[in-house]
Amino acid sequence: MTHILAIDQGTTSSRAIVFDSAMKIVASAQQEFAQHFPRSGWVEHDADEIWQTVVDTCRDAIAKADISAADIAAIGITNQRETVVLWDRSTGEPIHNAIVWQDRRTAEVCATLRQEGFEAEVTEKTGLLLDPYFSSTKVAWLLDEVEGARERAAKGDILFGTIDSFLIWKLTGGAAHVTDATNAARTMLYNIKSGAWDADICARLDIPMEMLPEVKDCAADFGETTPDLFGSPLPILGVAGDQQAATIGQACFEPGMLKSTYGTGCFALLNTGSTPVTSRNRLLTTIAYQFDGKPTYALEGSIFIAGAVVQWLRDGLGVIDHASETQALAEKADPTQELYLVPAFTGLGAPHWDPDARGAVYGLTRSSGPAEFARAALESVGFQTADLLEAMHSDWDGATSGEAVLRVDGGMSASDWAMQFLSDIIGADVDRPAILETTALGAAWLAGMRAGVYPDQAGFAQSWALDRRFSPKMPSEDRERRIAGWKDAIGRTLSRS
Ligand code: G3P
Repeated sequence: MTHILAIDQGTTSSRAIVFDSAMKIVASAQQEFAQHFPRSGWVEHDADEIWQTVVDTCRDAIAKADISAADIAAIGITNQRETVVLWDRSTGEPIHNAIVWQDRRTAEVCATLRQEGFEAEVTEKTGLLLDPYFSSTKVAWLLDEVEGARERAAKGDILFGTIDSFLIWKLTGGAAHVTDATNAARTMLYNIKSGAWDADICARLDIPMEMLPEVKDCAADFGETTPDLFGSPLPILGVAGDQQAATIGQACFEPGMLKSTYGTGCFALLNTGSTPVTSRNRLLTTIAYQFDGKPTYALEGSIFIAGAVVQWLRDGLGVIDHASETQALAEKADPTQELYLVPAFTGLGAPHWDPDARGAVYGLTRSSGPAEFARAALESVGFQTADLLEAMHSDWDGATSGEAVLRVDGGMSASDWAMQFLSDIIGADVDRPAILETTALGAAWLAGMRAGVYPDQAGFAQSWALDRRFSPKMPSEDRERRIAGWKDAIGRTLSRS
């Protein structure tokens, strides 16, 4: 029993990855699932479909690895965060589609609660902002809209969970209603300082506490899969939300260490140690991981559009056929033109939090073409990251202590051009690890460490290996001019400007 099975349940696909005893990937399987957009700004998933893709990909990955369940020591789970599932305790059936983290249907409710002065209490207790991004107002919406749901939830007949929690319920045949501290920290119902569900917030949103899962450490006993699923029962020993799993997979275990993951969006997490740092710049305070009941906190900056800007070049503008063409096109751009593309397609996340802003391009000339757009698109990711880091530095002195290095992962980190620009514009080293599957690795390590087949925290940190370091090369006057240009572009794009 030396292998570990990691489940990475993301926003657009489910993946299962088998790691061997040396933490090397031996097989993986992936399945996409449907995105439902019932109205403008609404995003839903069919939780049963998600469950089916998880079972299928796990079976597929085990078969591809040419092992049996008996060779697997444990399962680790990582997942899209904040997404809400409500299900029937007796049947395990969801009572509605899952409401996805991107869904904006509760924007008005959040605005009203903000006007009523509720945000200060929310931030003080949960580290979050009153934004529809988080789970709580989505839960309240479902309890309002699905007939009889609130009464049944109060009796404990309807349960709430983020995706990890729902999957564990299904995997264990309804034996465990649990989650981990990192996922709980994204619900806007969990007090990250006292480590408990918050009765006042639940009461304010009329959410019965009977429906909430038990919260555990990231490496803990989350239950055992039913034997029929994979051939023999498998213990679930590790759980973390995907951005926290990437922080763990990047071994950002010391205060001051920082990672940034470039997927559809970009999420940067800065380890602040045992102290929850309150942001003055509208970053989030969250739990990076929790071991032995002790949380390690992080400041988080969330950007909604990063890799998605490349999808827009392909599907919206039609100037490329494949994402991989972007770098070559950007390299052909006229160096004398300075375009600024603000990809506020769905509003702006941290540190602006402006849901009404929309995308814009500045600096167009008659000779601006696809190459300049491609370069501006890649640059927008660097500029947005620079905004997050600037906010982090001004929020916490520790952000500037030690080696100021940004560890990167996710699809876009494969682009040398984008990572060099990122290093130039943040004026710090950018480290790309040898293993880019840091999210799955983080979940696998949690489970493997708990099972006793993987090294402890220090040993794992030592095993982190560099692929390439990008160091700043841009002259500082160019950097300052470009940052000033970007700030001007952002200023003009904000809906409040
Ligand atoms: O907070 C949302 C985040 O967890 C989603 O991550 O990689 O599934 O888009 P991803």
